[in-house]
Amino acid sequence: MIPRINLSVICVIIFILIESIDKTVSNKNDECENSVLVKGKKHKKVVWVENIDRPYQLAFYQHKEILFYSYNVGIEEEDTFKIAYLHKHSYEHHDLEIENGFATAVDDENHVVYFGGNLGIYKYHPDKNRTRAEKILSKYNVWTMFFRKKLYFIKYPIQRLYELDVHHNKSIPERVKHIHEKIYLYGIDGNHHQYITNDTGLYQIKNGSSERIRYHGEHVFRGMAVDKKGEIYFCGKHGIFVANHHNHTLQEILHVRNIFGLTFDNHNNIIYSNPYEIVTLYPCETTKKKN
Ligand SMILES: *[C@@H]1O[C@H](CO)[C@@H](O)[C@H](O)[C@H]1NC(C)=O
Ligand SMILES: *[C@@H]1O[C@H](CO)[C@@H](O)[C@H](O)[C@H]1NC(C)=O
Ligand SMILES: *[C@@H]1O[C@H](CO)[C@@H](O)[C@H](O)[C@H]1NC(C)=O
Ligand SMILES: *[C@@H]1O[C@H](CO)[C@@H](O)[C@H](O)[C@H]1NC(C)=O
Ligand SMILES: *[C@@H]1O[C@H](CO)[C@@H](O)[C@H](O)[C@H]1NC(C)=O
Repeated sequence: MIPRINLSVICVIIFILIESIDKTVSNKNDECENSVLVKGKKHKKVVWVENIDRPYQLAFYQHKEILFYSYNVGIEEEDTFKIAYLHKHSYEHHDLEIENGFATAVDDENHVVYFGGNLGIYKYHPDKNRTRAEKILSKYNVWTMFFRKKLYFIKYPIQRLYELDVHHNKSIPERVKHIHEKIYLYGIDGNHHQYITNDTGLYQIKNGSSERIRYHGEHVFRGMAVDKKGEIYFCGKHGIFVANHHNHTLQEILHVRNIFGLTFDNHNNIIYSNPYEIVTLYPCETTKKKN
């Protein structure tokens, strides 16, 4: 027989135990309280940079976990851009001295980052830690860039695509003739399919084909980014989209008002920007249920 007093002590202990288990469970949930769903999975939003004017053209340098981006330093109607970077584990933002730098592209394999501005293209070695980048091309006003073995860039204001073989000194840019359209964005996914956007919308050009396949849905885009698995993501005006290749439509995986730019960190987490901040989305921990 257990004496009455001991029984109530046991009850209290059990109660405290249940309470504390309850608390740890609810703490776990709290961590992900303001979570958002990405492809049906809960993600936690972590603001990385705030109070910044229109951060654009995000690019992540995996080798040293550095995020590069441009942002606006102009006053009122006159847009002037600066290129800045920050390390993954710090919130300190540093500016680079690039005149009206706007576009960014990363070549992780060769440890090089490229910047484009209205006076040309610059090459930067993040591992060497300098504040200046080396100018490798003049007289081109660069709108956006994409790196895949070569540096692809769109010249402003004519909106034509050029390629630059950056592995040879003094190489000159060449028009990519098979893209005859005036375009805003260019990208290549992990299956070597190319994507272009113009005023009508988004088109896919399959490797080895010249046919333009229109993807329906969103039709205004501010960025494209390829994740670590080779899937291409599109940044619309108010959301992030992926392509459904079966019915050629775009599917929104996350709604973000006024999204500006998009990239992925080295764990394949989404990094995006809106007109005043840069945010990373981390998957919420899935609590394993014990039976
Ligand atoms: C360069 O060095 C400075 C000072 O040590 C540091 O604050 C900065 O983050 C470094 N930059 C890079 C790109 O490593
Ligand atoms: C390109 O030029 C740099 C210095 O200007 C030199 O160090 C490098 O070896 C050259 N590369 C090639 C492939 O010629
Ligand atoms: C097409 O795919 C092949 C490999 O399958 C690749 O070598 C080639 O560069 C691709 N073309 C484009 C335009 O990406
Ligand atoms: C966009 O490109 C497609 C594919 O070449 C073309 O059919 C369409 O007319 C273009 N739109 C504009 C506004 O130029
Ligand atoms: C395309 O396929 C996706 C996934 O199966 C579906 O959700 C979407 O409604 C389809 N869109 C159209 C226009 O059929």
